[in-house]
Amino acid sequence: MSEKTCEEDLFCGVNKAETDNPDEMSALEKKHTVIIDAPDTVKEGEEFEVTLRVGEYKEHPNEVGHFIEWMELYSGDTFVARLDLSPEKSHYVMKTTVKLDHAHPLRGRAKCNLHGLWEGEKELEVV
Ligand SMILES: [Fe+2]
Repeated sequence: MSEKTCEEDLFCGVNKAETDNPDEMSALEKKHTVIIDAPDTVKEGEEFEVTLRVGEYKEHPNEVGHFIEWMELYSGDTFVARLDLSPEKSHYVMKTTVKLDHAHPLRGRAKCNLHGLWEGEKELEVV
């Protein structure tokens, strides 16, 4: 059995940067943090655009042995959209149009084949 605790194991649970400030992030956090671009306030039932980006603070490798396999968007715990990626041929950007009835934080997830699942979050208001 592994001696690693879940906190030391990147493949246990969801990894999140300890801070929102890129200057204070580790290299691992900079490469894997999911950044969410979306309005701070949206109208109920009205479409708006969401963009997820990975490797914005420090470029993440994009090669067969090390790449981001997929990106997903959630509203709270509710699944919204997914983008599957292939090494060397994809960019770590996912754009989609979303329509929400309830305000939950947007969550962006990205799965690195070597460094596990990472998540970023953005609060938004639905009026
Ligand atoms: Fe990675």
